[in-house]
Amino acid sequence: MSEETRVFYRNPFADYPMVARGEGAYLIDKKGKKYLDACGGAVVSSIGHGVKEVVEALKAQLDSVEFAHTSQFTNPAQEELAGLLAELAPGGINHAYFVSGGSEAVESAIKMARAYWVQMGRPEKWMVIGREQSYHGNTLGALAAGGNPWRRALYEPMLYQRPRVAPCFCYRCPFNKDPAHCALECAEDLERAILEVGPEKVSAFIAEPVVGATAGALVPHDGYFRRIREICDRYDILLIADEVMTGMGRTGKWFAMRHWGVVPDMICLAKGLAAGYVPIGATLVHDRIVDTFHNRRNVFQHGHTYMGHPLAAAAGVAVIRYIKQHGLIEKSEKMGEELMRRLREALGAHPNVGDIRGKGLFIGVEFVADRATKAPLEPELGFARLLGDTAFGLGLIVYPMSGTIDGRHGDHVLIAPPFVITKAQTGRLVELLVKALDQSLATLRDKGKLKS
Ligand SMILES: Cc1ncc(COP(=O)(O)O)c(C=O)c1O
Repeated sequence: MSEETRVFYRNPFADYPMVARGEGAYLIDKKGKKYLDACGGAVVSSIGHGVKEVVEALKAQLDSVEFAHTSQFTNPAQEELAGLLAELAPGGINHAYFVSGGSEAVESAIKMARAYWVQMGRPEKWMVIGREQSYHGNTLGALAAGGNPWRRALYEPMLYQRPRVAPCFCYRCPFNKDPAHCALECAEDLERAILEVGPEKVSAFIAEPVVGATAGALVPHDGYFRRIREICDRYDILLIADEVMTGMGRTGKWFAMRHWGVVPDMICLAKGLAAGYVPIGATLVHDRIVDTFHNRRNVFQHGHTYMGHPLAAAAGVAVIRYIKQHGLIEKSEKMGEELMRRLREALGAHPNVGDIRGKGLFIGVEFVADRATKAPLEPELGFARLLGDTAFGLGLIVYPMSGTIDGRHGDHVLIAPPFVITKAQTGRLVELLVKALDQSLATLRDKGKLKS
């Protein structure tokens, strides 16, 4: 980090290398060091770095028009992107509300749910229920919907209060059930929460189909979302699927909710939507919501300056085309299986690996102090961060996070490489991860912080 920097960094005490360029699954810094980007930054870079076709599409967009405010004009790029998304989304979800990132997509969904119920003559409905150990963004409304204590703590007095629902966390079932024989107690917990505050107050339930940042690719029980949908319908509550991480092919389907055949009322997208080429987000909306605005000739009272930005939308169109042309959804599924197999082979019996889980190229590895008891490593060890830093030093980028269990205890890394990763590169990824893991554990042992 330069002494003269005027950037207020995320972490002012970190020493960030200067990135110079990107090529496929690799990022290269100014000194020429290559990093295998095994998490797409933060589950963003789905088609890989430096894709010429996307760069050309952006240049072409800039040659025609760079910006025209959406209160005055529409633009061909956003019209085309909305059409493509409507074709890909599950039945009845036919409109896209464009924004600039994941938090904005969630904020828009929360406010749209409220606006919908007001139009339906139910103005008392406003509350959005979310789950423990979830993350929906850092703006205040999205943060309030999420359930990660570490991210919330500083801002807690500013966040609206509502009951939270248990996560669907089969490796550490909050109800101590075996997923093969459970009665989906975690889904039923939504009903408890709704009845606790009164269904008349609840506008929506929000969930990540596969929980990402906070808990490391938690795949739900197969029947979970069907039960959730039933409960939402029973109490007139909208279902918002936060697919900011899982959407656009990451789990091996365009949308993760497709794995269980459940149609939500809204889908939040960002990250993979333009794969990092330009920031963009979107809230995809079911006809039944859009129609209430159209039929009453109401505008949705919300909006941001950069919504529907032509450059962002052009990037989205180019990325979807690229994914289709190169069969990358199928690749995400196939390479996900390959990577999962290699990870389980290399780490499945490791004494400090408790669980390896995920779908497609969205994989979490959870670390433990003891496999038999599933006891986590002491939070003071900062294990995930140490592992992430060690891997980075070795030229492997993973997404480390602590607090997997309750916001404080537990450590995991998310692995979510670009869909263009090759077989050989998955081998290299696993090799470097094993090396980083062993080096991190050795560091702790050498310092006397870890026994055996
Ligand atoms: C599921 C989910 N929702 C929302 C967000 C917020 O997205 P952004 O950081 O683009 O605001 C994230 C970011 O990691 C996320 O994983």
